[in-house]
Amino acid sequence: MLPSLAYAKRKYCIMFLFTRSSSLFMSGKLSSILSQKPKNYSIDHLMQEEGMEPLFISAVLLLTLFVSLFLHLLFLHGSTVSHHNLPPGKLGFPIVGETLLFLSMGRRGSPEKFIEERTAKYSTQIFKTSLLGETTAVLCGAAGNKFLFSNENKLVTAWWPRSVEKIFPTSLQTSTKEESMKMRKLLPGFLKPEALQKYVGVMDSIAKKHFEDSWDLKNEVLVFPLAKRYTFMVACRLFMTIEDPNHVAKFADPFHVLAAGVISVPINLPGTPFNKAIKAAETIRKELLAIIRQRKIDLAEKKVSSMHDILSHMLTTADENGNYMTELDVADKILGLLIGGHDTASAAITFIVKYLAELPNVYNQVLKEQIEVATAKKRGELLNWDDLQKMKYSWNVASEVMRLAPPLQGNFRESITDFQYAGFTIPKGWKLYWSANSTHKNPQYFPDPEKFDPSRFEGNGPMPYSYVPFGGGPRMCPGKEYARLEILVFMHNLVRRFKWVKVLPKENIIVDPMPMPAKGLPVRLHPHHN
Ligand code: HEM
Repeated sequence: MLPSLAYAKRKYCIMFLFTRSSSLFMSGKLSSILSQKPKNYSIDHLMQEEGMEPLFISAVLLLTLFVSLFLHLLFLHGSTVSHHNLPPGKLGFPIVGETLLFLSMGRRGSPEKFIEERTAKYSTQIFKTSLLGETTAVLCGAAGNKFLFSNENKLVTAWWPRSVEKIFPTSLQTSTKEESMKMRKLLPGFLKPEALQKYVGVMDSIAKKHFEDSWDLKNEVLVFPLAKRYTFMVACRLFMTIEDPNHVAKFADPFHVLAAGVISVPINLPGTPFNKAIKAAETIRKELLAIIRQRKIDLAEKKVSSMHDILSHMLTTADENGNYMTELDVADKILGLLIGGHDTASAAITFIVKYLAELPNVYNQVLKEQIEVATAKKRGELLNWDDLQKMKYSWNVASEVMRLAPPLQGNFRESITDFQYAGFTIPKGWKLYWSANSTHKNPQYFPDPEKFDPSRFEGNGPMPYSYVPFGGGPRMCPGKEYARLEILVFMHNLVRRFKWVKVLPKENIIVDPMPMPAKGLPVRLHPHHN
């Protein structure tokens, strides 16, 4: 028997509280926190080591431990013993499972080790584990990716952590699958090649302004926050036609709080990242609703067309029954797009800057290609679609960067029926996980995997289903082309202005959950004199 949804939600909350608390115990930090003067009872403060009422922590931990053990014995074991021939692997500790190990390997910069160790021990095709409080089968290699991508809505379906559902309440009205399908129907109109062609010039003008305001005349910059600023400006402009930097700034602060709390401990107590994310989402939603109402008036008065931007497109597209999305639904969809599309692209851009600093030969070839593009244009003319098609080497570089540092490490699915894979049974309700890390750094698919080699993407490129930074199959990232454009436009503007060196040559990388340089990648700029 598998736990019910309501139970699963509770289990998830409990598991996270237990997870964070036990990690503090393990690192020996809790005792030092306990000895400090308490300031308030929030988990966030606990995590930031600012103090917490000792009695409260002890009570919560004890209660959590007992409840966790009880529920684990009652449900989790019950769910697995009834099936034979389950995949090999360990479920780890009760409730916590192997989540701590999984997270800690990411935080140490090597998320692929979690997969490598288990594929070496159990099977190169599949192993079971327990992540985020859920029994999970990790499918490995190109065959595993292919299986999951091509069985969408046949054997498996979309699954997101409960925190996402709570922050986006409209997604509770329907299933995750329906929400995903709704989004996928809307996006092609906005992200199809004809539409994308028009965005290149807009992206270029935003990039130019961004560099003038935030990079030119500076000796040193912190790349990660700037990359975020650029992708956020582009998204605000193209999704909602918001250009005024003050208006963008109104969104930016609560938005970053929201992005940090979407995948977080889903404990809604004052001060937790989750609680802050819910509040931030409310602030942004209010702002978005005001924009949506004004836009409806503008559409009615024919001041703008339905293809003006994605917001207009959402407001004027009906479903198969002739129903339009509610204002709240539209606001949440825009929010989801901002989150999905902006942190991923800014992580990719940050790592491109990092690798170009480390690899002068690669930098020189990118610069050569971008100078060729620029010299074929009139002075002051903005980039266009044809220019981007000429940036083949630059895109191979970006692709190689996303092989070594995929912005999303993988994603979950849920099995909708019992099925067999590689000779093992996957019970209905189990979570499944595909991981870019099971192929991207595997010498079977990418010989000498640690070597930075953009030529891997020449000709036919990598073996099918081995290179998956954007996923694959029907749920492959719909923003892939959009991301390609904004990344290439950024590279063009960056390399033509500067060469740069890393301020911290040995800066650590952390993956939590996206890869990022631990200190935000400070670089020293050397402008070209031309
Ligand atoms: C370098 C940048 C990006 C990367 C690496 C990336 C990667 C991904 C991945 C791996 C998935 C999950 C696929 C799966 O579950 O199998 C995904 C989904 C998604 N991405 Fe992206 N993405 C990027 C940029 C964007 C942009 C710019 C947008 C919007 C304009 C976007 C919108 C979405 C949406 C809406 C989904 C959900 C699709 C669904 O559930 O069917 N992404 N992305």
